[in-house]
Amino acid sequence: MEIKIFGVIGAGQMGNGIAQVAAISGFNVIMNDISMEFLSKGMKTIERLLIKGVEKGKISPDEKEAVLGRIRTTTDITEMKSADFIVEAATENEPIKFQLFKDLDGICAPHVILSSNTSSIPIGRIAAKTRRPDKVIGMHFMNPVPVMKLVEVIPAITTSESTLRITWDLAVKFGKTPAKADDYPGFIANRILMPMINEAIYCLYHGVGTRDDIDTVMKLGMNHPMGPLALADLIGLDTCLAIMETLYKGFNDSKYRPCPLLRKYVEAGWLGRKSNRGFYSY
Ligand code: CAA
Repeated sequence: MEIKIFGVIGAGQMGNGIAQVAAISGFNVIMNDISMEFLSKGMKTIERLLIKGVEKGKISPDEKEAVLGRIRTTTDITEMKSADFIVEAATENEPIKFQLFKDLDGICAPHVILSSNTSSIPIGRIAAKTRRPDKVIGMHFMNPVPVMKLVEVIPAITTSESTLRITWDLAVKFGKTPAKADDYPGFIANRILMPMINEAIYCLYHGVGTRDDIDTVMKLGMNHPMGPLALADLIGLDTCLAIMETLYKGFNDSKYRPCPLLRKYVEAGWLGRKSNRGFYSY
């Protein structure tokens, strides 16, 4: 199956990163979101990063224009009918994702693979909302998408071998290294990462250390490129909370309970970098 047009649902930090990587890899991309405002914000981010690439001599000005020219934006989800492969990168919210997959199942041709960039929602549950559960799979990119080499590939119990192979090969074509995870809440990446971040927030909540001391311990003591609280701000505190809730409910195990301080920040609208305030101010 030849993939010519790659469809991306969502123009947020994950969606625009995925669109950029796909366009750089030579695919024509249609990026969809619910408003033109979100789409133009996503396109501005892509353009800004490409301009940086030109300034650093990594790409030529002509290549930059060609990449931008390969990305089309639309608020009309029915335009996804021309896509050969979809990755959904909407907000980490079950009802929203379920509705999107139902809609995409009706819009896209029957052979099209519908993948989700969900960070923790079971893929089998998403697949069950469609009439093509063999063609639904998790394709989990890491943030910032243009920089991080990993794509976690998550077949559901219903996913076919050929869907897995096509998705795996696509990740390689994007210049990424795929790793396969079984379909349990949080998969591998967030099963390990999020409890660490949540525990760092508990350290702050219990007064074990200040924000800076907690991040310094992990940066200098464990060689992490950034501290867990700074990383939580990068990921988005609402996303961190949603993932902890999924782990907590999915395993029915109190070891995954989200820290009350994380919940408090999210309720206050302190979502990290995207709202200019989280554990740090931006
Ligand atoms: N988008 C694109 N490129 C970016 C970027 C962004 N948002 N942020 C940084 N970069 C690029 C820079 O342009 C720079 O490129 P060059 O090497 O070509 O100059 C390179 O990345 C390094 O950036 P900096 O020198 O500015 O800063 P740094 O060395 O501190 O790296 C970082 C920044 C890549 C974010 C690094 O701190 C890092 O790897 N942090 C950890 C990120 C991480 O853990 N991500 C996974 C999050 S979990 C997830 O995504 C899954 C989930 O479901 C929640």
